[in-house]
Amino acid sequence: MRSIQKTGTKELRGKLDNSRISGAKYVLLRPAGYPLKSLFQDSPEVSNSRLFERYAREQWYGEVVKPGCYLFDRRLYPDFAFQVVRAYPRVSIVGSDTNIVVEKKKIYAKKIESDVTFDDVVGQDSARRKMRVVEKFLTEPEKLGKWAPRNILFYGPSGTGKTMMAKALSRETKVPMMPIKATTLIGEFVGEGSRQIHGLYKSAEDIAPCIIFIDELDAIALDRRYQDLRGDVSEIVNALLTEMDGIHRRKGVCTIAATNKIEFLDSAIRSRFEEEIIFNLPNEEERYLILDKNVITLPLEMERLDLKAISRKTKGFSGRDLVEKVLKVALHHAIIDDCKIAQVHLEEVVQNVKKDLLKPPAEMFT
Ligand SMILES: Nc1ncnc2c1ncn2[C@@H]1O[C@H](COP(=O)(O)OP(=O)(O)OP(=O)(O)O)[C@@H](O)[C@H]1O
Ligand SMILES: [Mg+2]
Repeated sequence: MRSIQKTGTKELRGKLDNSRISGAKYVLLRPAGYPLKSLFQDSPEVSNSRLFERYAREQWYGEVVKPGCYLFDRRLYPDFAFQVVRAYPRVSIVGSDTNIVVEKKKIYAKKIESDVTFDDVVGQDSARRKMRVVEKFLTEPEKLGKWAPRNILFYGPSGTGKTMMAKALSRETKVPMMPIKATTLIGEFVGEGSRQIHGLYKSAEDIAPCIIFIDELDAIALDRRYQDLRGDVSEIVNALLTEMDGIHRRKGVCTIAATNKIEFLDSAIRSRFEEEIIFNLPNEEERYLILDKNVITLPLEMERLDLKAISRKTKGFSGRDLVEKVLKVALHHAIIDDCKIAQVHLEEVVQNVKKDLLKPPAEMFT
């Protein structure tokens, strides 16, 4: 218990017996904006949470906080309001050791617009077949009832078109996709990640039909043998399990998750996926098609290129390698040489990438 130097909102000032309020252990804030609208005001964003905490403690030292009340910035962004989302104890006073955190932007508010189509994805036939069912479900969510596709896992090497396929599905069905990177779910507080998951599914349900795309699933759903057992990570896993089990069935919501480390996934999570769909590295013909589709979009003149020869020499390359490491780098070399893109540019780059691919990985879990 400590006495108050000054107090928060007027309402709190009047109603509370300040001498009986204890110091806040932590306060969670949500940026709430300015009381008045102006064209010239940007919303501030926290760039360094530790520095912000020092800054916040100093200016709000002695303020009484409770969920729902506002704290106004008085320095860099005068009158910008932060709303208290949570405080522990529920009614308490900001002190010199209060843990003050600004809520991360709500990941579940985000939808993406995609310009990728199924025709852009080369190969991956089993994924394409499954997508037909999902397409059917998303365009007529009522029809399949309890037989609807719910949880699908894409797995396979990096750069083989997993994200691309999910984007294409969203575009072709005109159904919004909510993409989340699993790593962004790991919050500052225990419990934050699981709240994010439930919030995500709730907002997907509100705008259903909707696709939730969880990328890098292994970041949170690693088999317990491989994760350092952080409490919040297992809470996230449990929240995800609850949503995927569909005890509270989220109508019209389809979860697609992607990983390139399927063998490390938690078996409980893995068993919730009705189907695991493999994405393979492209074969020679597919490599040719990927090169061919992309080469025409290069913004530079080119000599006659023998893409068949390149596809023969690029066994083991992913679609991403072909686009990002071969075509893009060859283009850049041609720009540096100030000439058209020539076969030799492609050949040289392929040789360099092959040398890189032969190097052992720096770390097993990167
Ligand atoms: N099957 C494919 N057909 C056409 N282009 C492809 C294919 N696979 C990869 N690409 C190219 O590589 C890029 C990266 O692919 P994408 O992001 O879908 O890979 P990913 O499987 O999600 O990889 P990661 O596991 O690293 O997330 C695509 O934008 C595209 O240019
Ligand atoms: Mg991806």
